[in-house]
Amino acid sequence: MNGFRALIQGTPLLPILQPESVEQAINIARAVHNSGLRSIEVVRRTPAAAAAVTAIREQFPDMLVGMGTVLNADQVQEAKDAGSQFIITPTLSEKLLGYLSDAQLPFLPGTATPSDILLAVEAGLTEAKFFPATLCGGVGMLKNFGAIFPQVSFCPTGGIADHNLHEFSALPNVFAVGGSWMIPKDCVKAGNWQGITDACVVAQGQFIE
Ligand code: 3PG
Repeated sequence: MNGFRALIQGTPLLPILQPESVEQAINIARAVHNSGLRSIEVVRRTPAAAAAVTAIREQFPDMLVGMGTVLNADQVQEAKDAGSQFIITPTLSEKLLGYLSDAQLPFLPGTATPSDILLAVEAGLTEAKFFPATLCGGVGMLKNFGAIFPQVSFCPTGGIADHNLHEFSALPNVFAVGGSWMIPKDCVKAGNWQGITDACVVAQGQFIE
């Protein structure tokens, strides 16, 4: 069991944050929180990522905060030490699945192909990220996965935004959708926190439960 679906079932839209600083991360998390969303994935692609996870957890105790772009044992440990409530990976291997299950946190492994999904299924998992969703066949691919792996539910990310969110979220084998479009880069650059809240509100209106 991954445990991730149960964790985020009340807040199935997952904004993806790549923070440049802790201060910026707090401002963005506040903007997301003001929209009513209660989950956020901080990707560990910048030096500020781990400290941002810790700070968001401290400032917003009612939010679910996890680390993404986790690829190895050290990074799983870093995510745990930062206080992540879940871990997301862009890909998977037997080794990485082992580190994730040892971590005893809800997690979501990245998959893009039927072979990836089989690896997850063989490890006893029923939830996976589908990434990069639009580049890897999008909605059509997820429909095919549904026929082959009816027991697996997905959180697609990558290339999703307001124009296609409804198509992905309407699929019966999609339980959540993630992406950076809810934290628009131009708003971040301009310090337009209200613009981020607005983007998150629009996304909630497009999401089909
Ligand atoms: C991810 O880590 O899932 C992706 O970076 C999200 O892709 P997006 O920026 O197209 O939403």
